[in-house]
Amino acid sequence: NKKITIAIDGYSSTGKSTVAKQLANYLGYIYVDSGAMYRAVTYFAMQNGFIDELHFNIEGLISKLNNIDISFKFNETLGFAEVYLNNENIEKAIRTLEVSNFVSKVATASEVREKLVQQQKYMGLNKGVVMDGRDIGTVVFPDAELKIFMTASAETRAKRRYHELLNRGDNVDYNDVLKNVVDRDYIDTNRADSPLVKAEDAIEIDNSNLSLEEQFQKILQLVTMTL
Ligand code: C5P
Repeated sequence: NKKITIAIDGYSSTGKSTVAKQLANYLGYIYVDSGAMYRAVTYFAMQNGFIDELHFNIEGLISKLNNIDISFKFNETLGFAEVYLNNENIEKAIRTLEVSNFVSKVATASEVREKLVQQQKYMGLNKGVVMDGRDIGTVVFPDAELKIFMTASAETRAKRRYHELLNRGDNVDYNDVLKNVVDRDYIDTNRADSPLVKAEDAIEIDNSNLSLEEQFQKILQLVTMTL
């Protein structure tokens, strides 16, 4: 019963986490949402006055990185692990458009990336892990047995994210959501440290016209071929 590492990368709101969770549950693997970790650092920066509409004190944040402890705890009811910042459940708090608007800039800082990548590698030491993000197949697990690169049109992605935010009761404007998706992709692809890029050996899946079930079956087939 061979255990592998599955890396899922791609642009914002391509549904990476949805399929990663499905796969992890099906295979009995651990699911790690690496984006939640960048969001947790951003949330910490906002809570501690380093970042707001007028200030972006990345040096201040970096000086306090040692005060940030990120962990995951499995929630039986939800069926996936929720993220905690210094033992506080922040799963819901990090999904706001406000956090989304700052996170990609925070994620350009090499000191931040170094801390999180180290923890991510550690979480994958025993394999049997599905991790989604932007640099999983390229930096975190360059030796992953299966690498998926997910894409979908910006409009498809913005619509998905918009409905997600409305469903959780957030009062957001569609155009603001679309702008956030486009801006984040721009920053994520153009940063100097670990930019979002398809790993050479990653398999690209455009899910603009795939149902969740079709997408899951397609990826499951790739897993079966790898095992
Ligand atoms: O996956 P999610 O959209 O929640 O990620 C939020 C942001 O965190 C991304 O837009 C990106 O800037 C950053 N990120 C990253 N590397 C990862 C995961 C996320 O830079 N592995």
